[in-house]
Amino acid sequence: MRAVVFEEAGKLTQVDRPEPTPGPKDVVIETAAVGVCGTDTHVFDGEFEGTVYPLVPGHEATGVVVGVGSEATAFAPGDHVAVNPSTTCGACEFCANGKSNLCREWNGLGVVASDGASQERFVAPVSNVYRLRPETDLYEAALIEPLACAIRGYDLLPRRMGDHYLVYGAGTMGLLMAQLAPRAGAASVTIVDINAERLETASELGIQHVLTGADQAERDKWDVVVDCTGAIPAIEDALPRVKAGGTFQHFGVAPAEATADYSPFRVYRDEISIVGTMAVLNSFGRAVEMFEAGAINPGPMISHSFTLDDYPRALELFRKGEGRKLQIRPGDTASRVLL
Ligand SMILES: NC(=O)c1ccc[n+]([C@@H]2O[C@H](COP(=O)([O-])OP(=O)(O)OC[C@H]3O[C@@H](n4cnc5c(N)ncnc54)[C@H](O)[C@@H]3O)[C@@H](O)[C@H]2O)c1
Ligand SMILES: [Zn+2]
Ligand SMILES: [Zn+2]
Repeated sequence: MRAVVFEEAGKLTQVDRPEPTPGPKDVVIETAAVGVCGTDTHVFDGEFEGTVYPLVPGHEATGVVVGVGSEATAFAPGDHVAVNPSTTCGACEFCANGKSNLCREWNGLGVVASDGASQERFVAPVSNVYRLRPETDLYEAALIEPLACAIRGYDLLPRRMGDHYLVYGAGTMGLLMAQLAPRAGAASVTIVDINAERLETASELGIQHVLTGADQAERDKWDVVVDCTGAIPAIEDALPRVKAGGTFQHFGVAPAEATADYSPFRVYRDEISIVGTMAVLNSFGRAVEMFEAGAINPGPMISHSFTLDDYPRALELFRKGEGRKLQIRPGDTASRVLL
């Protein structure tokens, strides 16, 4: 079976490898779609903490069950599923205290030390597998993993009725955060991006105010400001726009060594809350339910599909910031532009 392998940092190969076999508590899944995101480029570049090579990338996956271990009887061949890629040790201080996303042994399928979904079939622990309805579009459902991250982000926000929201970055994550804001009680939602193409997607999704910069907005302060860029210039522009008593969220992943300037006086004087959010915590099941209930509009968010052999092209396009969500679809015979 065909697989994409990151042999070491910066080195990608496509290989034929043996079919995976499940352990007793594992499920074997034929990959339908797996999203490409910034994490994949960090893993490829050797910038993700703890990656063990060689590694098959791919952590935003859906597929069809083709095999189950002796104790994985909750699933049967033919089931449509989405997979939570996070696995944790279950024993450390953080796991023991309900914060397993901060586990010191945190391992993501396709990210740290277990193979991911950029191959024809992959193995996942049964406790990470979520059943989808048969009628749910398996390609669009690959957005459930990023949606689970966005829901975790909201778990850490105040979610107060009537708040005004400002989101930086109209990539997949910013678009998800902006689409969820009305469900968290937002009175208004503004999204900004420096890439005009990305803003087009935001407009198609019906996000209320779509701007090239926050200076163009009708207001100058927001209750909740979320950075979904990880870019220092965006963060430095964003923080001063938080209203007194409001909240700033670092959703984007800035480079590990980067620092940003802000006014500690203002954080004190105006009681600004600055919160982080890391991956998925008890939010994957809710993401499945919200996705299947139509909480987001996935169609306009996915622009390209690639075969396994075209994986390098997908990475290249992602780095250029072209297109929208890019997906690998191992079952396809040709790569396609979808929008
Ligand atoms: N916290 C988490 O759990 C979590 C989960 C997934 C992704 N992320 C991070 O969220 C961020 C967004 O992910 P994505 O997949 O949407 O990435 P993306 O690269 O598709 O989108 C980022 C967007 O930010 C825009 N941008 C860059 N600089 C800007 C600026 N100065 N002002 C306004 N817009 C600017 C870019 O044009 C781009 O459209 C990344 O840093 C990613 O690593 C975090
Ligand atoms: Zn991702
Ligand atoms: Zn742990």
